[in-house]
Amino acid sequence: GPGAVVLGIESSCDETGAGLVRITDGAPELLGHALASSSDQHARFGGVVPEIASRAHLESMTGIVRGAFDAAGLRHADVDAVAVTAGPGLAGALLVGVAAAKAYGAAWRVPVFGVNHLAGHVAADTLEHGELPTPSLALLVSGGHTQLLRIDDLGGRGPAPITEIGTTLDDAAGEAYDKVARLLGLGYPGGPVIDRMAADGDPAAIPFPRGLTGPRDLRDSPYDFSFSGLKTAVARHVEGLLAAGRPVPVADVCASFQEAVVDVLTGKTVRAATDLGIGTVVVAGGVAANGRLRALAAQRCAAAGLSLRVPRPGLCTDNGAMIAAVGAHVARAGGAPSGPYLGGDPALP
Ligand code: KG4
Ligand code: ZN
Repeated sequence: GPGAVVLGIESSCDETGAGLVRITDGAPELLGHALASSSDQHARFGGVVPEIASRAHLESMTGIVRGAFDAAGLRHADVDAVAVTAGPGLAGALLVGVAAAKAYGAAWRVPVFGVNHLAGHVAADTLEHGELPTPSLALLVSGGHTQLLRIDDLGGRGPAPITEIGTTLDDAAGEAYDKVARLLGLGYPGGPVIDRMAADGDPAAIPFPRGLTGPRDLRDSPYDFSFSGLKTAVARHVEGLLAAGRPVPVADVCASFQEAVVDVLTGKTVRAATDLGIGTVVVAGGVAANGRLRALAAQRCAAAGLSLRVPRPGLCTDNGAMIAAVGAHVARAGGAPSGPYLGGDPALP
């Protein structure tokens, strides 16, 4: 009920997160959270190494949960429920969080809710901007997913609480950032570094292709995405310069690549919202931290008369508070706890 406290645990990729929220009659209230990242340990491999991520979660988990309690000024006796990312994500990484959540649930005698990581990204926004009007249209852009989602109930009630309107047919937007950063030798994760480098570049310097601006055939949703052709175009462009012995204008390549990504993301989102008659757009997930995406989304939503919500960058990338936020919605909606056989589902839809 209102006033109850939910601990959220996140371990689906390379971020170990724990967050505490209070259930209210409106949006959940963020009380405090803590985060550790193993991204430095993956940098030299150019992408997340699952085994390294799992071990890092094991080492960080209890300290991060304690960190969330310290940040909130609470004790474990204050917790009424635990929510944990049950998927999608890396199998071994998910298991660390799920095992921790079940152990805390058993020790503290509180229910455990396995929740969807992607719903978490959207729920993060409610911690900052209040409850979402329903329906809302979410553009979810992360390292593993690029989706347009119709959100009817973050608590999971009703026949279709969250409906997929469009998705990427190949790479996710964050994955494209990471792959382009790798081919430019900029390290991992690629999004933040390309975001920074692009600020000094010309977004119109290189006319990279806009993937899938119309449906390829009648079966495709007009709201699907494709980024692998763009990634290949960037690779060909850089190879051509290197073969000709010419310098690579890294800032211009970053700015032009980024413009191609955010042009398509914002264009399709505004078109979908307009076509479906949905007045509120939420941009969520790690790529929503991107400065240019935030700016162009604001400009295009304003021009189309849509209201736009984007969480602050620190709540866009993976964290435990967003998982606690879904848990708060599910618990308040009377959702069933997961029970002792909860596992991780790497491919949770
Ligand atoms: O949501 P997230 O933290 O983890 C997943 O669920 O995948 O997203 C991580 C992704 C990475 O691909 C990373 O490069 C990208 O988000 N990212 C960004 C920025 N910050 C993180 N992409 C573009 N600009 C950023 N500022
Ligand atoms: Zn994520």
